[in-house]
Amino acid sequence: MVSIGERAAYVLSQAGRVGWYYGQYMVSARLSRASLPPPAVSRPGPGRTVLLREIARLMRRDLRNVADGVYPLPHDVIPQPVARLRETADYFRDLPQVNARRRDRRAAEVSDGAAGTTAGLPAYYLRNFHYQSGGYLTDDSAKRYDHQVEILFGGSADAMRRQALVPLAEFLATRRQSRTRLLDVATGTARFLTFVLAAFPRLQVTGLDLSAAYLRQARRTVARFGRVGLVQAPAEALPLADASQDVITAIYLFHELPRAVRQAVAAEMARVLTPGGRVILVDSLQMGDRSDFDGLLEYFPQAFHEPYYSDYARQDLEALFAGCGLRLGWTDLAFLSKVMVFEKP
Ligand SMILES: C[S@@+](CC[C@H](N)C(=O)[O-])C[C@H]1O[C@@H](n2cnc3c(N)ncnc32)[C@H](O)[C@@H]1O
Repeated sequence: MVSIGERAAYVLSQAGRVGWYYGQYMVSARLSRASLPPPAVSRPGPGRTVLLREIARLMRRDLRNVADGVYPLPHDVIPQPVARLRETADYFRDLPQVNARRRDRRAAEVSDGAAGTTAGLPAYYLRNFHYQSGGYLTDDSAKRYDHQVEILFGGSADAMRRQALVPLAEFLATRRQSRTRLLDVATGTARFLTFVLAAFPRLQVTGLDLSAAYLRQARRTVARFGRVGLVQAPAEALPLADASQDVITAIYLFHELPRAVRQAVAAEMARVLTPGGRVILVDSLQMGDRSDFDGLLEYFPQAFHEPYYSDYARQDLEALFAGCGLRLGWTDLAFLSKVMVFEKP
């Protein structure tokens, strides 16, 4: 149950959030017009009315999960205007550099070492994903990341991430939290883990990522939520023992991996998962999940540097995980994302 006050806090904060980030998305699109390629797509994507309607639908579902006790009210319903304004100023200061990269199709700056050391990092990773400054290599990029993602998704990114908590809550219903180990692969700035810990504070949680800079930001992000182990390592060579994790989550990772690496990561997840454990993925919709969104999925990698996305959008993930011994237990669509749960028998 949610009280009237909590409901009001949710509605006001999420409406403000969508206005804030979707508004910035519109301004960005205007400022980026000269650098954005004309869509080369087989069908039009959804228009603004559909997108806003779908965001509202996602938010209603998010609130229903809170009312059903699946997870608590988001921890950020109290606005922090000064922090948000700072992020916005930083984002718009950086936007001309992003647009220049997009215009010149320059997306390999980070492999030149311009953004810091690249030692030990795989070539497929040394890209300016989304044409973002610093790729995943710099502290500035890590500080800007959450804001950028929220703009891209019109303020709905956190609500989409939270949909992974639904199968997680169901899994934990029959288990002791304090004896359950959760690994978040490609944790980034650990935004998702803040919601995990707010809902399940006694879980044993580890976040793993290739980026030292993003892990530094993750350390700051999770500090007030509880204890989290943070590990710098590649998802395709997890430095963890066989059958050592009960739940593995991965949010927005697979679309940024080449196919062979996706295969290696799925195999590693299957290896470190305990029998009876689950992998919970949240990632982009794929082609045909919502045919009215296919045009958008076609355009996305044209406008944002996403070299592996088109292949991801067409890969049969059920077959990928089945080949590693994991069975698809559950799929759910949440606006531009898809939640998939794989079980290890
Ligand atoms: C799109 S971000 C997603 C971050 C976060 N999960 C979220 O919810 O926003 C992709 C993340 O994957 C990480 N990453 C990409 N390839 C990786 C790999 N092979 N091993 C570990 N992390 C990787 C990047 O450093 C980045 O933090």
